[in-house]
Amino acid sequence: MEILKNFFVLEGLDGSGTTTQGKLLNEKITHSVFTHEPTNGKIGQLARQVLKNEYPTTPLALAHIFAADRSEHLFAKDGIVNQCQSGLKVICDRYFFSSVAYQSLEVDFDLVCQINNQFPLPQILFFIDTPVEVCLQRISSRNESEIFDKKNLQEKVLTNYLKILDRFQNQGMQIIKIDGTQTVEQILAEELQYLI
Ligand code: TYD
Repeated sequence: MEILKNFFVLEGLDGSGTTTQGKLLNEKITHSVFTHEPTNGKIGQLARQVLKNEYPTTPLALAHIFAADRSEHLFAKDGIVNQCQSGLKVICDRYFFSSVAYQSLEVDFDLVCQINNQFPLPQILFFIDTPVEVCLQRISSRNESEIFDKKNLQEKVLTNYLKILDRFQNQGMQIIKIDGTQTVEQILAEELQYLI
């Protein structure tokens, strides 16, 4: 898998702080854009409907929905690839590592990897490592309920994340693991060291 220069991804459990960090990075870095997966497009909205159980489907179909959303996100005319190639720095909250971590709860790990194996790797992957307990506490105050919120599921998601990060060691992509129990400012400062 090829590395896409200028492409930076944030990953972590629900409540780990990826969205907060992505938005802050976008404010700090010149010529940057912030985006996220699932996207706000039609396919991304469909993924969110499945997550909220408004449109139940099969786990494998959901894995394909996320991959379709991602394909459009990357390869559309105004998509990530063209933006990065034009010199913009694209900061993305979640990417295919989320698919591997979450969809592998119900779909074979290698099959999820295979569905996502045509996508470029980011220049840097920041993994915000926040303990499950802390994440769950933060989520519980959000008053939203999605299908992956439970504690034992989040622990499995974390295991899957560690497994996929391990597989991508030494493949050219820089993987930066950050202690998510630090303050928002400390985490941001750590990330900025790699970006400026
Ligand atoms: P999240 O970043 O929590 O969005 P929001 O803050 O708007 O609710 O993402 C929603 C959920 O989507 C999250 O639980 C992880 C899940 N997800 C997958 O299961 N697979 C994927 O490929 C992606 C991108 C996200």
